Parts: sequence; structure tokens; C-alpha cells
Amino acid sequence: MKAMVMQSTGVDNLRLVDRPDPRPGAGEVLVRLRAASLNFRDVLALKGGYGSRQKQADLVPLSDGAGEVVETGPGSNRFKVGDRVVNSFFPGWLAGPPDERFLQEDLGGMSDGVACELRVFSQDALLPIPADMSFVQAATLPCAAVTAWNAVRAHGQAGPEHVVLTQGSGGVALFALQFARAAGAGVIALSSSAERLERLRGLGAMHGINYREDADWGKTARQVTRGRGVDIVVETAGAQTLKQSIRATRLGGLIAMIGMVSGPTAEVNLPLVAMGSLRIHGIAVGSREHLEQVLAACARHRIAPVVDRVLPLADLAEAVRCVAAGAQFGKVCVEI
Ligand SMILES: NC(=O)c1ccc[n+]([C@@H]2O[C@H](COP(=O)([O-])OP(=O)(O)OC[C@H]3O[C@@H](n4cnc5c(N)ncnc54)[C@H](OP(=O)(O)O)[C@@H]3O)[C@@H](O)[C@H]2O)c1
Repeated sequence: MKAMVMQSTGVDNLRLVDRPDPRPGAGEVLVRLRAASLNFRDVLALKGGYGSRQKQADLVPLSDGAGEVVETGPGSNRFKVGDRVVNSFFPGWLAGPPDERFLQEDLGGMSDGVACELRVFSQDALLPIPADMSFVQAATLPCAAVTAWNAVRAHGQAGPEHVVLTQGSGGVALFALQFARAAGAGVIALSSSAERLERLRGLGAMHGINYREDADWGKTARQVTRGRGVDIVVETAGAQTLKQSIRATRLGGLIAMIGMVSGPTAEVNLPLVAMGSLRIHGIAVGSREHLEQVLAACARHRIAPVVDRVLPLADLAEAVRCVAAGAQFGKVCVEI
């Protein structure tokens, strides 16, 4: 089979190579992968940015894949040959709260990922894809959609009485917008350009703020909510946004701490957090149960993942550069 391999750190060291076809063991299934999606984490992993927490050479990148079952191992009974499946981000985290044991194995980091034609999965790490969902659409879900779901729905419990603030037009932010709207919540969306803000309004955002033009956007978001503040911030930008996110959030509101696109370290005004009774809650993707809920919500609310572009696997380096530059609106995917 063909596999894309990071021979040593750096996107320039990606090579399409031949590897022996894997075979499934007990409780496992062999999947012929058809599509995979990229996440911001893949940009970091290809720089070796996770240090000793990732393979620094000979790594098959990418964590999120979809394909069809081509062989089942002994004692494997959840799927049959021909079933269309998507993998969950942490193969061992099936449900319940996060557990140190389950967070160790992440595909495309600690272990080989899905940028290849064939891969063996534990049968428990997979879920069936709805009939009307494409492989590309399904491959957008394991990291970005599950993270957004965990923030907005599992922790945020968003409903019609709530306002959610999203940051930018990356994969997590767009799924957060879609899940918040499906729950009846209002959405204030941040972005860096008028054109993108228009597209975000097209997806249902009730208000858009250009964070490049309005440095005090936390105050603006508060004004939009008539001084009350937003209920949930989906914090994906990190260093350059947390201060404003704290200003934007209502008394007792939730900041779902997810990402660091603008940097990993932020200064926090602690009295504002304390007196605002704010909950700053870290989100580590989510479980297979969350992915199951995402698949059901997409079917129930006819949510179509926003796919910016689909490139062939051979052009993975170009796809990575696109995500690194923030050039995408939604998800960048590869077809395998
Ligand atoms: N904790 C977890 O479980 C988890 C899971 C998934 C992702 N993440 C993290 O979450 C972050 C987002 O991931 P992603 O895959 O959605 O990223 P992405 O697709 O690369 O999106 C990045 C977007 O962030 C926006 N952005 C950049 N600087 C900003 C700023 N100062 N203020 C507001 N928006 C800004 C830009 O949107 P515009 O072009 O519209 O300005 C950019 O397109 C990453 O740091 C990723 O590592 C964490």
C-alpha cells in the first residue's frame, strides 16, 4: 500500500512510500481509507512540535479518516466487509470523562495516522457513517467537530436562550457555529476579513466582528448582548484573544479553552475571572460517544461540514501549507 510518511520533521520531508499491507488482529478491522482531513495540530506535528509526545521520524500523519472495511480480524463483530466507517480521535476513549490512559494514543502523533491507503483499527475506535454523508465529509468530524460539540453542547449545554462567540473561520469555529445554531443559540463570530464575516453570516451568525479592525471586540460583543455578555466563548485563538474573551463573557459564563492559533501563553486578569464567576474549561477533543452524537446531530439537523478544498494525498504538503497559512474557510481534506 501507499502511505505518506514524514521521514524527518518538516513538511518538506513528506514522501509517498510503499509499505507492506497491514492485517487485522483479534478485535481489529482493516480499513481502506478514502479521505482524511487536516487540523491545525498536524501543522505542529509536522514541525515536531509535540516533542517527546510524538514520533519525530517515520510518522504517517493525520488523525481523522474515513473509509470502508475490507477485512475483519478474529472475534471482530461490530462491522462487516463493505461498511463505511469513520475513526474516533482517541481510539480508547469510548465515553465518560477524559482519562489519562486514553489520551496517550493520538493518531498522527504518538502513533501512525491515516494518511495511507490501509490502516488497522480496533473495532471500538470506529463508527458507521450515515448513508448520505460522503467520506470527505465524515473525515472532517473526529477532531474539529467533536471538539466543537464537546465545548458548545456537552459542556456549554447551548440552547435558544444562549449566545455563543466563535473565533475565526477554521474547522472548530465553523462546527461550533453550526452546532450552536442547530441548538437555537445566537452566534457572534469573529474573523479577519469582511468577506469571511459575510460567509459566517451566511452560516447563521447573527453578528460578525472583524478582530483586526476592532481590538476591543470583547466590549463590542457585550454591547451586542445589551451589556449582559455572551454565555459561551469557543476559545480557539488563545494568546491574542483570551483577554477580550474574558471581557465578552457574562457573569458565570463559560470559556471553552480549546486552541492557541495566535500563541500558547496569555496573561489573565484574575480578578475579572473571579468576580465574573467565569468557568475556563479545558477541552481535549472528546470521546467516541461525542462523535456518535455529532453524527446523529449532522443527520438530524442536516448539517453539512464546510469543506474548503480537497487535494489528492500526493499533495499533502500543499494542504499542510494551506492550513499553516490560515488560508482555508472550514476544512482542508485529502482524498486517498
Ligand atoms: N483542545 C482540543 O481538543 C483541540 C481540538 C481541535 C483543535 N484545537 C486547536 O484549536 C485551534 C483551532 O483549530 P482549527 O483546526 O479549527 O484551526 P484552523 O482551521 O487552522 O483555523 C484557524 C483560524 O483561526 C482564526 N484566527 C487566527 N488568529 C485569530 C485571532 N487573533 N482571533 C480570532 N481568530 C483568529 C483564523 O480565522 P480568520 O481567517 O477567519 O480570521 C484562522 O483561519 C488550534 O490551535 C488547534 O490546535 C484544539
